[in-house]
Amino acid sequence: MTRSARGRGHGKLVLCGEHAVVHGYPAIAFAVDRGTSVTLTERPGPTELASPHTDDRVLDALRAVLPAEGYAVGVDTDLPVGRGMGSSAALAVAVVRARAALAGEELDPDEVYERAMPLERVFHGNPSGIDVAVSARGGCLWFQRTPTGPARTPLAPGPWRVVVLDSGEAGNTAELVAGVASRRPGIDPVLARIGALVEQAPAHFGDPAALGALLDENHALLREIGVSNDRLDGLVALAKGAGAYGAKLAGAGGGGVVLALVPDPEPVLAAAERAGVVALECRPCP
Ligand code: MEV
Repeated sequence: MTRSARGRGHGKLVLCGEHAVVHGYPAIAFAVDRGTSVTLTERPGPTELASPHTDDRVLDALRAVLPAEGYAVGVDTDLPVGRGMGSSAALAVAVVRARAALAGEELDPDEVYERAMPLERVFHGNPSGIDVAVSARGGCLWFQRTPTGPARTPLAPGPWRVVVLDSGEAGNTAELVAGVASRRPGIDPVLARIGALVEQAPAHFGDPAALGALLDENHALLREIGVSNDRLDGLVALAKGAGAYGAKLAGAGGGGVVLALVPDPEPVLAAAERAGVVALECRPCP
């Protein structure tokens, strides 16, 4: 009998602290109600994708966590790829869970994290691990690299309503992360300001206006370290003009999405539609 099993990983949005998190500062991210499912089916012969996938690197990346022989891999996702919503981390987590299910293993989120990171490194070079940690756990997470490993603390998100505006362009996370590293130590004070802002964020979780102001400041700092562009700045302005409490690029930047914290999604969605921008409401996911 052919054996088959399925696993799933959440997509995510970084609320605040991306890039600085690679350099040891904290960041906060939350899982969203979108993600990736992987179905592994045992088969003789080389491990292959069972369905075509838009990104050629997927099969290479899968080889970081799967044997070269023995599986047909089905991938099903409703995450935009390369848009800062954690599509590669969700893929990694989904594969690891599917493989564990086939082997009859029960993994806790930390074990999923350890096994999924090699795949994330294929895509992202030097990832902090925040995307994989959130994808594996769900919910909202405080994440910080420490000399002894990642610190991961669950946080209760506030009553947030979030609209995501898609720049229509994919950012290259590995290149953007390497670019930020190359601008150190000149940008170190800016990274420290991002870290300080993340420290303040949880105190404002219940006050979206105050949290929104903090997101605006985070976006300005991300621009200072060179990961925003005119398109992303324009989407932030569009969301703010339509009543958002605050908005920022989310993820690596250079393209990808803008996250807007809003009192009401409708005016922001309508303004995006008028401007020909793809936008969607995203719910934080427990
Ligand atoms: C990507 O979602 C967040 C970055 O900080 C990279 C990382 O932490 O691995 C840009």
